Amino acid sequence: MSRAPAPFVRRATASDAPAVATLGAATFVETFGHLYPAEDLAAFLAASKTPDAYAKMLADPDVFVLLAEDRSGEPLGYVLAGGCKLPMPDLDPRSGEVRELYLLSGQQGRGLGTRLLEAALEWLESTGRTPVYVGVWSENHGAQRLYARYGFEKVGEYDFPVGATLDREFILEQKSRRKPD
Ligand SMILES: CC(C)(COP(=O)(O)OP(=O)(O)OC[C@H]1O[C@@H](n2cnc3c(N)ncnc32)[C@H](O)[C@@H]1OP(=O)(O)O)[C@@H](O)C(=O)NCCC(=O)NCCS
Repeated sequence: MSRAPAPFVRRATASDAPAVATLGAATFVETFGHLYPAEDLAAFLAASKTPDAYAKMLADPDVFVLLAEDRSGEPLGYVLAGGCKLPMPDLDPRSGEVRELYLLSGQQGRGLGTRLLEAALEWLESTGRTPVYVGVWSENHGAQRLYARYGFEKVGEYDFPVGATLDREFILEQKSRRKPD
């Protein structure tokens, strides 16, 4: 049986903002779109998954976006990391966060998410960002299992607004550098 070649992975630049925004919106809708009334989803996408929003982040040297593409340059997934923006009390200003980690549904379960997560954690470590946090939907058990393998443990909860809907999110902190067996 032939296997698909491994995706290319490269750091995104400012000119990738439209592609990352399109991918960010598509993967969010695929993963979570069914959870919200259409108007809440539309408001969230219009506020946060836009080329302008990603252009600002890609212009910031303290933000890391790694883009996975197929051999013809089609985007498949991405990870976005930087300083922590989660509502943690007494947050250390050096704290880091894996802010977004999303693959198109057809690309999941084959190790690509692990590859992107590891690269983001390495970048955060190399830039002195510690401790490292991630926010994850309370019902996203698959992603929580993945983060647990890298030593993340629940340290808090908050409500994440998607339009007028409030999602219960867990805040996880990386407590150890455990790697998968
Ligand atoms: C979470 C995600 C990035 C993991 O990447 P992946 O390439 O699918 O995962 P890998 O093949 O590297 O590793 C497998 C592990 O990832 C997690 N995982 C796999 N498929 C998943 C899915 N569809 N949704 C959530 N997590 C998944 C599981 O922990 C899995 O291992 P396990 O089932 O043996 O416990 C990817 O599945 C995805 O983009 N899911 C939808 C978006 C999402 O939930 N993002 C996280 C937001 S915090």
